[in-house]
Amino acid sequence: MKQYKVIQWATGVVGTAALKGVIRHPALELVGVKVYADDKAGQDAGDLADTEKTGITATQDAETIVSLDADCVLYCPMPWDINEICRLLASGKHVITPCPYWYPFFQDKEAAEQLQAACKQGSVNFHASGCNPGGIAERFPLTFTGWCNRIDRITMTECGDCRAYASEGVVRELMNLGKTPEEADNNPIKEMLKAYWYEPIEMIAEGLSSEVIEYEAQHNYVLANQDIDTAAGVIEKDTIGLNNYRHIGRTREGTEIVQEQIWYMDDIELNRLREKFPIPRRSGWRIRIEGDVNLIVDVDFPPELSSEEHQAQGLSTTGFHLVNAVPVVCGQGNPGIKTYLDLPMITGCMGTHQVDR
Ligand SMILES: NC(=O)c1ccc[n+]([C@@H]2O[C@H](COP(=O)([O-])OP(=O)(O)OC[C@H]3O[C@@H](n4cnc5c(N)ncnc54)[C@H](OP(=O)(O)O)[C@@H]3O)[C@@H](O)[C@H]2O)c1
Repeated sequence: MKQYKVIQWATGVVGTAALKGVIRHPALELVGVKVYADDKAGQDAGDLADTEKTGITATQDAETIVSLDADCVLYCPMPWDINEICRLLASGKHVITPCPYWYPFFQDKEAAEQLQAACKQGSVNFHASGCNPGGIAERFPLTFTGWCNRIDRITMTECGDCRAYASEGVVRELMNLGKTPEEADNNPIKEMLKAYWYEPIEMIAEGLSSEVIEYEAQHNYVLANQDIDTAAGVIEKDTIGLNNYRHIGRTREGTEIVQEQIWYMDDIELNRLREKFPIPRRSGWRIRIEGDVNLIVDVDFPPELSSEEHQAQGLSTTGFHLVNAVPVVCGQGNPGIKTYLDLPMITGCMGTHQVDR
């Protein structure tokens, strides 16, 4: 089995899952860890990932990391920096990331060109991935379109009770929860989200050998009818208690591709909201295809998991996917941005056995 040398860049929630995955993966060798936090610098990677010692010490020094001999960097910071990504690519290291750019060719042509040029310079590949986007938004629906003939609509819905989500930044800024309608209407993130969700819509369209000719962004919400206690603070009465984004692309042939999120601060009964909202399921994701084959694919974690376990496993899927993608992404010729339309199947890896057939 071919071995690959890997650097883990940033060890937040996703990065720590990825680090653990690299340490355990039979085809991967950890050669470096870049951290930002002072208290993580100098620590053994195994201590950061809660595994056995690795002998690899985390460093805050980007120069040391760039100068390492490595095949691939799992780049997981927040915020991300395209110049940093391009520097790693130009230094001859493949980059796999949960951050943008999943399919930047139309929404951010400049970034696409910059990434392609850096890939050519370093003779390597770039792949942006994750759970959603990176799985639910395009990889899995594209797979199921192979079961269909005429396709009228493909809808990807993420829903969940967010009361246990402690990140105020994500909950209040990205999800609009706790904002007044006026604040939500003026939230600059709405413009960023359009490009963010139109990317996987365009990838699906290319996968269907089509193109998007019409775009639409919808924003719906329901206000709380009382104060609601959450891990991110109190969601006050008359602020947004349920936020619904829908981003839609219509292709030349009339297929509608919908990326939807329903985030709420209540239980499934929604008694603490001013009105009910149609929620397809308690939590997780639904992929729905309508056409001559009508398909519903539900993806979720077992209900007995606590909401903390739910969230941790959800974010692990993103980290582990990056890890499992390393041999596939590093093994591709023709340097450049690799989307799911360019890559063979990415699977888990439990051993080193190779079938001779
Ligand atoms: N596609 C998907 O499905 C998906 C899902 C989840 C997350 N994501 C993306 O994955 C990335 C990581 O998410 P996360 O949940 O792991 O976030 P997180 O827990 O907030 O971790 C981010 C990490 O970034 C590092 N950091 C701190 N200050 C920084 C700075 N000034 N500049 C750059 N990096 C800094 C820190 O690393 P150290 O702790 O090592 O110091 C921090 O732990 C985010 O960009 C997020 O948008 C994508």
